Amino acid sequence: MSEQPGASEEREVHTPVGSRRTFFRRMTRAAAGLIGLGLAIPLAGYVISPALRRRAQSWVEVGELDALPEGEPTQLEYVTVARDGYMEAKSQKAVWAVKHPDGAVTVFAPLCTHLGCGYHWDTTDRRFKCPCHGSVYDVTGEVLAGPAPRALDRLPTKIEGGRLLVMYKEFKSGLSRSIEL
Ligand code: FES
Repeated sequence: MSEQPGASEEREVHTPVGSRRTFFRRMTRAAAGLIGLGLAIPLAGYVISPALRRRAQSWVEVGELDALPEGEPTQLEYVTVARDGYMEAKSQKAVWAVKHPDGAVTVFAPLCTHLGCGYHWDTTDRRFKCPCHGSVYDVTGEVLAGPAPRALDRLPTKIEGGRLLVMYKEFKSGLSRSIEL
């Protein structure tokens, strides 16, 4: 039997179903891969950025050692300047410092370890007190009462030329041990 003219041509132009399916499967995988990559890069940045930020911490001067009363917690305020390219952001911070008889100084981060409220020193009771949920700490930062899960967080300090320098850090609240943010 003789073939109709053009019949073989028609057969040749058909795309085999299997190869089309393979093509679409590969395209779908490639698209999924690109979407995954698009999500993974910002996520990696989110995970890594605290570590990079941590590296940028530096010492700040918070006051003269001689100006600190011995054994009496003192709130020291200072201004930090964060630079990001040509942008500059100033923020006011405060820490609590306690000078010991030997001249050493303990500096506490200013936030309650329960949920991060600012606390104050009660000069009459000689206790640090948090107004939010009633946590109470002694002069060494140990918890005396309330829901605070750990002692006040301590900051690294050093004394240079009679000036007190602090490395400011922030910590996760609500945990039984200090974990830096
Ligand atoms: S935040 Fe201080 S007691 Fe809750």
